[in-house]
Amino acid sequence: RLERQDGRIGRVVFYLPEVDSTNRLLANLAGRRAEAGTVVVADHQTAGRGKEERVWYSAPGTGLSLSVLLRPRISIECMSQATLVIAVAVADAIEAASGVAAEIKWPNDIMVGERKLCGILCELVTTPDGDVDHIIAGIGINVSQTPDQFPDGLRSIATSIEAEAKRAVDRQTVLGLLLDRLEHRLAQWERDGFQPIRRDWIRRSCTLGRPIIVTTPQERRSGTAIALGDDGSLSIRTEEGSIHNYIFGETCSSSV
Ligand code: BTN
Repeated sequence: RLERQDGRIGRVVFYLPEVDSTNRLLANLAGRRAEAGTVVVADHQTAGRGKEERVWYSAPGTGLSLSVLLRPRISIECMSQATLVIAVAVADAIEAASGVAAEIKWPNDIMVGERKLCGILCELVTTPDGDVDHIIAGIGINVSQTPDQFPDGLRSIATSIEAEAKRAVDRQTVLGLLLDRLEHRLAQWERDGFQPIRRDWIRRSCTLGRPIIVTTPQERRSGTAIALGDDGSLSIRTEEGSIHNYIFGETCSSSV
C-alpha cells in the first residue's frame, strides 16, 4: 500500500503481485466504503474480466491492470459519459508517457490503427434510490508485450505501447501519468460538464466519419459513424439513409 499526497485519485493505491481481477477486488472494497479514488493495481490477473463476459488476458508483468473507485458528483442521467471521460484520460496518459498517438474507438477502446492498446471496463453501481453510488473503472493497458506474448487469436488485433513507441516505457511512469490525467479529467467533468471532454474525444476518435458496424445484445448494424451526442451516444447513418443512435454497444471497422 502506497500513498500519493496530491489529489484524490490514487491517494490510496494497493499493489498486488497477483489477483483474480482488480475490478472484482475493488468492488469488494467499495462495498466496505473504501474512499473515492482508491486504486488497485496488479502485476498479474488470473481471471481478468473484459466486456461482454470476455476474458482479459495479459502475460505477467507486461501490462498495467488497474481499477479505480470513483464517486463522481455527477447525476445518473450523465453516466453514459463516464466511460468516454475515462477513455480520454487514458489516451492522454499513453501519449504523454510514450508519444504514441492513441485513438479512441467508440465507446472506449484505445487503439493504434486497427490494433487495440487498452481496454476499459466501467461498472456502475447505483443506490437503492437509483442514484450513482460508485463506478469501478477497470483499465487494462498493454505496455511491453511483444507480438508473441499475445494469445494466437489476438496477435493481429492487439498491440502494446512499447511495440508502437519502439522503445522501453516504464509501467510506473504510465501509472503516475494515468492517475494524474484521470484526476484532471474527472475534475473537469464535475466542474465544466462533458462538452470540453467531448471535444477531445472527437479529436481522438478513430470511429467518427468511418464505415463501421455497431453491435448490441439486440442487433448488429452497419453504417457511417456521423456524430457523438452530448450524452456520449453514437449516431450512424445506414446506406439507406436512416439514422440510428446508440447509447451503448461495441463498434468495429467495416472497411477491413
Ligand atoms: C475490454 O473488454 O476491452 C475491457 C478490458 C478491461 C480489462 C481491465 S484489466 C483491469 C481491470 N480488471 C479486470 O478484471 N478488468 C479490467
